[in-house]
Amino acid sequence: MEYDPYDYETDKNPYPVYEHFRKNEPLYHNQKFDFYALFRFEDVLSAFMDSKRYSSTGGVTLEDLPFGPMMIVQDPPEHIRTRGLVRGYFSKQTITAMEPAIREIVCRHLDQLVGQSEVDAVGSFSSLFPMDVISSILGIPEEDRDEIRIASNNSLSRKPGDPMPPPESIQAALTTRALYAGYLEDRRKNPRDDLMTALVNARLDDPGTGTPRPLTQEELLGFCGLIAAAGSETLTKFFGNAINALAKPENEAARSEIISDEECIPNAFEEILRYDPPTHYTVRTSTTDIEVAGGVIPKGKKVALMIGSACRDPSEFDEPAKLDIHRDVSRQLALGFGLHLCLGSALVRMEGKIALEEWHRRFPRYEVQEDRVEWVHSSNVRGFSSLPVRLLA
Ligand code: HEM
Repeated sequence: MEYDPYDYETDKNPYPVYEHFRKNEPLYHNQKFDFYALFRFEDVLSAFMDSKRYSSTGGVTLEDLPFGPMMIVQDPPEHIRTRGLVRGYFSKQTITAMEPAIREIVCRHLDQLVGQSEVDAVGSFSSLFPMDVISSILGIPEEDRDEIRIASNNSLSRKPGDPMPPPESIQAALTTRALYAGYLEDRRKNPRDDLMTALVNARLDDPGTGTPRPLTQEELLGFCGLIAAAGSETLTKFFGNAINALAKPENEAARSEIISDEECIPNAFEEILRYDPPTHYTVRTSTTDIEVAGGVIPKGKKVALMIGSACRDPSEFDEPAKLDIHRDVSRQLALGFGLHLCLGSALVRMEGKIALEEWHRRFPRYEVQEDRVEWVHSSNVRGFSSLPVRLLA
């Protein structure tokens, strides 16, 4: 059996494929694209915790894309210095203080949908509010948010069987870059109370000279592009996956409980992330020959850490194909683990909780219109671009 990350059919339901590899070939080598993949929970977790042998500097995609200088493609000590510049903006304390502002954004989007008999849970809601939240942190003006969101999504899209970005994706990436360059230029002259201004004024310890220096233009663009794309795309997919799961007849009890007892929502959020995670894999590069899962990964190879498979590993989770909102999901891999653990962890937990609460306060019962759902096809992020749901009384 093959695992082809660019196959649209596999993408619709990759879980049987993952099960096959967990059982039969937990270390897999894909000949065509020459990458290795780890499918078991313990192996993925160990790789996340071993940045010496599993480096991020070769990129976090299977394709050789020209990443700029960004924390996600750095190893220590650079990674620690770069992440340290923005860590405070995404700490639990900062995000807790933002709760009323986030709730206001979520409610504004949902209130526009009240009274309709059918809504697109992704197109008309979950693709919009995360961009507004991250844009207000970064300082992206309201009138440009749609353009940035569409261009960020397009820059990640892939054609079936082709690992490289199509010309329209490259064009979309260039569009967002040009917009960020304009904002940064403006913040140098007109500082504001936003993350882009903080980045323009930030100083990074430079081990070469021993003196702190401003960020280069490439570093600034890397920060903006990474935070905006990571902060919108994945949450969009999370919420679509959540509504799709909660609409299923077998999850009726979970949905009812979310409505009757909002206290259960934080753990329900963790469980939905595990049950159907937006990010299905991330990538590392082996810095030495690595013996793992009964085989050897040679030095210098791309290794896919199969998060989507680890989340359904029965050796970690009993009955993994069952959505159980009371399950202990304390060893969560859907947000990564270790040094590169999602920088937005506190933010996604807050946004996810508020979105689930406010949606179900307005729309407690709904049915997914299965024949009209549309999928997004990007290499490692999985979910819907359109999820029409009929709202029931
Ligand atoms: C449900 C939503 C999200 C999911 C599933 C998700 C998933 C992940 C995963 C799996 C990683 C680890 C990548 C790796 O180790 O190679 C990661 C890292 C990251 N995420 Fe998220 N993420 C989400 C939302 C966000 C948000 C809202 C932000 C906004 C700040 C964000 C910013 C980042 C950044 C900057 C990194 C890189 C951290 C580093 O390299 O140290 N993510 N995310």
